[in-house]
Amino acid sequence: MTIVQPRARGHQGYNTTVPRQPQTAREVRGLLRIAYATWGLEDYTESAQTVMSELVANAVRHACGDWIRIVIERPAQDKLLVAVADKSDRLPEVKHPGEDEVSGRGLGMVAEFADRWGVTELAGGGKRVWAEIDVKVES
Ligand SMILES: Nc1ncnc2c1ncn2[C@@H]1O[C@H](COP(=O)(O)OP(=O)(O)O)[C@@H](O)[C@H]1O
Ligand SMILES: [Mg+2]
Repeated sequence: MTIVQPRARGHQGYNTTVPRQPQTAREVRGLLRIAYATWGLEDYTESAQTVMSELVANAVRHACGDWIRIVIERPAQDKLLVAVADKSDRLPEVKHPGEDEVSGRGLGMVAEFADRWGVTELAGGGKRVWAEIDVKVES
């Protein structure tokens, strides 16, 4: 069971620790759907789910440790943040796959669906791979 708690900090968001397993991707997509519905930002659900699916898949495939930390936040009215923290010190590395190669495309998808992405090394070891999606505010 995953307990999703609203953050104690100023902005809105959810943080949860989940097993570093392939099945987790599905659970995280569900969490995104719920969070974005709560915020009335359903239009952004698919993009965020795509980004998050790649980040979780990478943590499962390339990182280590039993658990990963999932971040679903809205740090500003017009900004959405998703992130996955894992225990591996290996950093993401953008690949340039040839047309016939099936792997090495995940971070390209992240770059395509997010407005910014990056990686932050964590003091206690491991890193957080994050992506931001801008909310287009209607005028
Ligand atoms: N969370 C991670 N931990 C360690 N290495 C990672 C992580 N995410 C990505 N990488 C590295 O970046 C590379 C590119 O990732 P990606 O574009 O998703 O391609 P793929 O996962 O198909 O190899 C991976 O092959 C891996 O070497
Ligand atoms: Mg990948």
